[in-house]
Amino acid sequence: QLALKETLFRINQKVMAHYEARLRQAPPGQAARQYLENRGITPATLDEFHLGFSVDQWEDVVGFLKQARISRQAALNSGLVVPRKNQSGFYDRFRNRIMFPIFDINMQVAGFGGRVMDDQMPKYMNSPETPVYSKTRILYGLHAAKTHCRNAKVVHIVEGYFDFLTLFQNGIKNTVATLGTALTAEHVRILKGYAPAMVLVFDSDAAGIHAARRSIKTFLNEGVDTRILILPTGDDPDAFVLKHGPDAFLDLAARARSVMPFLRQVAMDTHGSSVAGRARVLADLMPYIADIQDSALRSLHVNELAETLNIDEAAVLEKVREQVIKSK
Ligand code: CTP
Ligand code: MN
Ligand code: MN
Ligand code: MN
Ligand code: MN
Repeated sequence: QLALKETLFRINQKVMAHYEARLRQAPPGQAARQYLENRGITPATLDEFHLGFSVDQWEDVVGFLKQARISRQAALNSGLVVPRKNQSGFYDRFRNRIMFPIFDINMQVAGFGGRVMDDQMPKYMNSPETPVYSKTRILYGLHAAKTHCRNAKVVHIVEGYFDFLTLFQNGIKNTVATLGTALTAEHVRILKGYAPAMVLVFDSDAAGIHAARRSIKTFLNEGVDTRILILPTGDDPDAFVLKHGPDAFLDLAARARSVMPFLRQVAMDTHGSSVAGRARVLADLMPYIADIQDSALRSLHVNELAETLNIDEAAVLEKVREQVIKSK
């Protein structure tokens, strides 16, 4: 298993260099370089994060791996090639895409993401799960961001490759990206090792809000000091920083609400602060509170909620018990 992991890291490293070389060839790399430039990515960022390009061919990486004397089984395990149906041989998983190597915390290449340069679907493709790549554990950019997270004592969590790269390039280096998946408990535990506080900055589209909601439960369960930042203009973090600059972003991040006040505000905006409204607010928040496993932590939230809604704490506790029974 250890030998297999080392082999996969070695293959990924080689293929990363191959994709980087392809990006620098004109053609076929010209359009990809232009795309990156249009998105505000500087040549320095491109070098630092080893961005590359997979050409529009079926057997470019297949041929490269063959030439590098990589065994068929190892090539297959890397996820970079896919077996052909009904016949022998492989084809390249990533074709005609901007390539983002995904580093683990030790700077080893764990996997890749690839983006098309137009509006084809799927917009992104990622490496499949392999012995060295697990999407519930990996955080894009953490290898570069970790010291900045330690110094700043807070980490910004964004969704996408370009969100990370644009923030990092504009000096907001205490940032990582989840690559579209909701934050897992594993992610939060890893991040807690670098910073005690977190700011969740997901997209304000439906997918982002859905992922944020699911992430909120994880934060509550892990007892982390977390703020939720919804960008007012509906921009992704990268578009926001390109338009308004990093200071405007940091300003909003500093004023963002903590998880519970955030949820409460959302519910109160919906239901109002009348007696009936506050009862509904309580009902909206109940699933989040009931989901907290640590009973001391749960009790603290019950206490705070009772106070801010001006409801008897015993009544809130009763609701929590009902909810716990309901969700079992
Ligand atoms: N993602 C993915 N597969 C998809 C769509 C998205 O893996 N088909 C992941 C990517 O890591 C992507 C992230 O989810 O960066 C966020 O998705 P989305 O908001 O749709 O993409 P953006 O990062 O905003 O893409 P871009 O700015 O390049 O258009
Ligand atoms: Mn989105
Ligand atoms: Mn996005
Ligand atoms: Mn985007
Ligand atoms: Mn409601």
